[in-house]
Amino acid sequence: MKPHIVAFLLSLHLCHNFFVVRSCLDNEREALLSFKSVLSDPSKRLSSWEGEDCCKWKGIICSDSLHIPEESFLNLPKLTYLNFSNSNFSGSINNQFLELTSLRSLDLSCAMDVVDYSSVTLTVSSTLMVEASSPYSYISGGALSSSDLNWLRSLRNLKELVLSGVDLSEASRSSSLWVEPLSSLSSLETLVLSNCSVFAPLPIDGFLNLTDLRYLLMDFNSFQSLR
Ligand SMILES: *[C@@H]1O[C@H](CO)[C@@H](O)[C@H](O)[C@H]1NC(C)=O
Ligand SMILES: *[C@@H]1O[C@H](CO)[C@@H](O)[C@H](O)[C@H]1NC(C)=O
Ligand SMILES: *[C@@H]1O[C@H](CO)[C@@H](O)[C@H](O)[C@H]1NC(C)=O
Ligand SMILES: *[C@@H]1O[C@H](CO)[C@@H](O)[C@H](O)[C@H]1NC(C)=O
Repeated sequence: MKPHIVAFLLSLHLCHNFFVVRSCLDNEREALLSFKSVLSDPSKRLSSWEGEDCCKWKGIICSDSLHIPEESFLNLPKLTYLNFSNSNFSGSINNQFLELTSLRSLDLSCAMDVVDYSSVTLTVSSTLMVEASSPYSYISGGALSSSDLNWLRSLRNLKELVLSGVDLSEASRSSSLWVEPLSSLSSLETLVLSNCSVFAPLPIDGFLNLTDLRYLLMDFNSFQSLR
C-alpha cells in the first residue's frame, strides 16, 4: 500500500513532529499510527492521535490543494529544521515563515536537479574524466516565488538556505530585495539559489558579510555582468 503522506517529516527538536497529508485517507492514518507506535511518548504529546479523522490530530496539516497559505501558518518558534523541498507547492513566499526564528535549515526548493546521463561521456585516462556538455538540468517540483526576501531577516539563526527553483525574478530587480536580506544572515554557511530566475549583476561585494559561508551555488541564473 502506497502511503499518500505528501512529504515531510520535520525533524524538530523537543519532540515536535508533524506531517502534511492531503486528506485523511485510511492508509495515511495507518501510516501515522504505525509511526506513533514506534515512538515512546511519555509526555503524551500524541494523545490526540486517535479516531478516524487524522486531519484533527495535533501536528497534522491537511491540505487538498498545495497552494502555500497566505498567512504565517507555522508558529513554531523552536523549529530548527524545515524541509518542504519539491512538495509541489505553488504561491508566493512572503510572511509565512517569519515566526520560525530558531530555524537553522530551511529548504523550500522547487526545482529538483537531475543528472542527464545521455549527455555524459566517459573518458578513461590516467585519471577518470567525466565530460558532459549539460550534465544536469532541473525539473519542476512546484511553482514558488518571492518578490522580496526581507522576510529572511527574522530568520537570523539560519545556517542553511536552499531556494532552488523559487522564482526570484521580481526580487532580483533590486539588491535591497534579495542581496541585502541574504547578507543579513550572518550565520549562513550554505546558500543554494539554483535556477531562481535571478536577472541581476553578480553580487560580488554583496555577500562579503557572510563570513561563515562555505558553500554557495547559484547556477542556472542570468547574471548580467561582473559589476
Ligand atoms: C531536503 O530533503 C531532500 C529530500 O529528502 C534532500 O535531498 C535535501 O538534501 C534536504 N535538504 C536539506 C537542506 O536538508
Ligand atoms: C503539481 O501541481 C500541479 C498544479 O499546480 C499539478 O498539475 C501536478 O500534477 C502536480 N504534480 C504532482 C506530481 O502532484
Ligand atoms: C529552471 O526552471 C524553469 C522553471 O522555472 C524551467 O523551465 C527551466 O527548464 C529550468 N532550467 C533548467 C536549466 O533546468
Ligand atoms: C554588513 O555588516 C556591516 C557591519 O556589521 C553592516 O554595517 C552592514 O549593514 C552589513 N551589510 C549588509 C548588506 O547587511
